[in-house]
Amino acid sequence: MDEAVFPRSFLKAYPRAVRAEGCFVYTADGQRYLDASGGAAVVTIGHGVEEVARAMAEQASRLAYVHSSQFHTASAEKLAERILTLAPEGMRQGGRVYFTSGGSEATETALKLARQYWIERGQKKRFRVISRLQSYHGSTLGALSVSGNVRRREPFAPMLSEWGHIPPCYCYRCPYGLRYPECNVECADELGRMLERDGSENVAAFIFEPIVGATLGAVAPPEGYVQRISEICREHGILMIADEVMTGMGRTGKPFAVEHWGTTPDMILVGKGIASGYAPLGAVIVAGHVAEAISSGSGAFLHGFTYGAHPVATAAGNAVLDYIEHENLFARVDVAGSEMRAALEPLKRFSVVGDVRGIGLLWGIEFVLDAKTREAFPADARIASRIQDDALEAGVMTYPIQGCVDGTRGDHILLAPPFTITTAMIQMLAAGLEKAIAELEKTHLAGMGGWSAQV
Ligand SMILES: Cc1ncc(COP(=O)(O)O)c(C=O)c1O
Repeated sequence: MDEAVFPRSFLKAYPRAVRAEGCFVYTADGQRYLDASGGAAVVTIGHGVEEVARAMAEQASRLAYVHSSQFHTASAEKLAERILTLAPEGMRQGGRVYFTSGGSEATETALKLARQYWIERGQKKRFRVISRLQSYHGSTLGALSVSGNVRRREPFAPMLSEWGHIPPCYCYRCPYGLRYPECNVECADELGRMLERDGSENVAAFIFEPIVGATLGAVAPPEGYVQRISEICREHGILMIADEVMTGMGRTGKPFAVEHWGTTPDMILVGKGIASGYAPLGAVIVAGHVAEAISSGSGAFLHGFTYGAHPVATAAGNAVLDYIEHENLFARVDVAGSEMRAALEPLKRFSVVGDVRGIGLLWGIEFVLDAKTREAFPADARIASRIQDDALEAGVMTYPIQGCVDGTRGDHILLAPPFTITTAMIQMLAAGLEKAIAELEKTHLAGMGGWSAQV
């Protein structure tokens, strides 16, 4: 039966999940796994919440589908209003929410909206969207064009547009070899330099993840970076798009990560946590002046998806927000985040752990040959996947990624558990990781990995 599904990888055998409840996923062979990664940083309220399932069933039986070009629905209207209430204050007045079926669609929507915004404003030359290396904005070709994830881009490079990428803000491996705060956030100034060097007359926007999720592993910028980026966008009159598909909807301890630095983007991309995995849902929060350019201009955004603002998906989004409010889960992120920090930081005692970093309930652990030199493992050692396998054996799900050093080398795992994770589960998570990391270190120090010689 399994032969019919096109898998993510033909090289791997996938356990069959049959049930999930709270922070655990259960498989057909009777195993139980702690969902320490929330899938791919998706699950916020935990699995199997009956209220959400009921709200979706109720919506499906009353009104499962209408096309968004023909009708609006109460569930989409209500969710849009609630999301605007959570958005940074400067986006609320006149702001709008454009619903999609996921993060990549949200990125595509923002790229096209940025372009149409400038056409409406009579600046028809503007189309380039500048972004950063070591970033991920989605799998579709437009989203991949602005993504700076080398591995994911490489095979498709001939099909992608190249509009310019600046280096990431990654203090552990500063692209300029500098240190904060003496660096004066040099990496942010690179945006200004690029705009001055290449000219900004054809630039529509800058897109970035305020905290880099998958590609770098929960890398937050230091104080001053996001503010500087925002100033440069304003000075050059280009739109600022914050991709909060992973960091939005409370994951970092605030509804949106940009709020840590008091900045107001022109668009915020939302996905993943917006429906906690109960339905495929994403959104673009659009600031009032951007929406107004369309409404008082041509009157219609030339864009749309068949399943945009889907009634059942937006009903799921509303039910997830109800649960978050009822259980006060946004406030829980800071508490559980501090417990995660206390549980994960001791892992730094292993020589193969280079960095443990994170904010709220988004954490990354970077693995290296030697914590002192920060030298990465060779890519073909597939250390992140190995940690994933060993942690899974210990009952803990993680999200492994490679390429944090240069797009190819560098191994890290991402941890993004549901906001409902308990103290005992955090201990279980740390114990599972400790087992996996101890095994890696043992193999490495015994020279049995076979990778030291390749460096
Ligand atoms: C920051 C960011 N943007 C966009 C996306 C793409 O979202 P989706 O996979 O829902 O299309 C992701 C997915 O991992 C992401 O982390």
